[in-house]
Amino acid sequence: MSSNLRIDGARLVSRLTELSAIGATPEGGCRRLALSDEDRQGRDWLVGQMQALGLDVKIDAIGNIVGILKGREDGPAVILGSHIDTVGTGGRFDGALGVIAGVEVLATLRDAGLTPKRDMAVIAFTNEEGARFHPDMLGSYVWAGGMSVAAAHAELDADGAVLGTELRRIGYEGPEQPGFLPAHAYLEMHIEQGPVLESEGGGLGAVTGIQAICWLELTLKGRPSHAGTTPMAYRKDPGLAAARINIFANEVTKTIPGQLANCGVIRVQPANVNVVPETVVMTLDLRNPSDAALAEAEAAVRAYCADLVARDGIEIAFRDLARFPATPFAEELIAGMEQSAAELGLPIRRMISGAGHDAQMMSRLCPTAMVFIPSIGGLSHNPAEFSTDEDMAAGANVLLGAAWRVANA
Ligand code: GLV
Ligand code: MN
Ligand code: MN
Repeated sequence: MSSNLRIDGARLVSRLTELSAIGATPEGGCRRLALSDEDRQGRDWLVGQMQALGLDVKIDAIGNIVGILKGREDGPAVILGSHIDTVGTGGRFDGALGVIAGVEVLATLRDAGLTPKRDMAVIAFTNEEGARFHPDMLGSYVWAGGMSVAAAHAELDADGAVLGTELRRIGYEGPEQPGFLPAHAYLEMHIEQGPVLESEGGGLGAVTGIQAICWLELTLKGRPSHAGTTPMAYRKDPGLAAARINIFANEVTKTIPGQLANCGVIRVQPANVNVVPETVVMTLDLRNPSDAALAEAEAAVRAYCADLVARDGIEIAFRDLARFPATPFAEELIAGMEQSAAELGLPIRRMISGAGHDAQMMSRLCPTAMVFIPSIGGLSHNPAEFSTDEDMAAGANVLLGAAWRVANA
């Protein structure tokens, strides 16, 4: 490849702007929950973009959208990808940028009249966020064979909507078997979603891997009673227990290196000011770069809950919403990202990913790596999520260089 080959930064930004208009929120972010009407519109737009490029577009049984550029030889493909679903209060960049950067890489090759040796493809994976259906990274998990199509189709959202029904409703239950396109390598560009790159003075991130994650749902049952007449010692209050568990999980992060904890959902019933609650459903998001340390943190939380059950008469039931081990990426592809950045004169540093990504699932199938660009203010899963046009182009050019090298090796 001519080392002068560059993606078209203006076209990249203009595609992102077009996709951002779908599900745009007044706060300047995006709400395209998986398999919602907005997700369908985003998918329709993406399929149109892929078709306009002359890609062979295929949809699989879990709704993953695959755009394929034929190479000169048969064999496994170099796959680029990410997701276009968002959390309920998401930004414009998380996921969408990775898919659009992949499309831009293939558009750049097409414009230059370059045909890679290997097939190349862009995939937009279904329900990466896990904001509507569990687990997160569901489309790539199914693609990688970690979960059956039938089990995924049976997943329910918080209102009881069935994933398979929603997939058919938006017209994206496709005929292909997930994983139908064998993978030679997987590369993903993403925003960092944290403060590290910006605080280090900018530059890109060559991602070395993804930390371990455990999502738990806890259902706490106590005894509903009158808030004015029930003496404190007589109460069985799952609301109080939920607050204690949240604080305990936070304390655990101070004793186990690298440990993170978040309680993002607390649903109290019956939710009346003067009723001691009957039930609380809460979630815990626990993460750590070390599998062993994460297991230690989870065990500590579970032991604390067992004490609450014994001491306060609260019932607690646990359900796994997601559980994925720490995932190291492939050294040769991490080095490939660094090489591409060096060729472009762009600073790049190695870093681990705090967030989950489809790359975590794809690494079950093939050598995998990611490139990060800075997130201004470190913000993500927030309408104010922002990355500069310059950084987006830089990241996409690194992706182009790395992908082209693997596709011709
Ligand atoms: C995905 O966005 C995650 O929660 O890491
Ligand atoms: Mn993402
Ligand atoms: Mn996300």
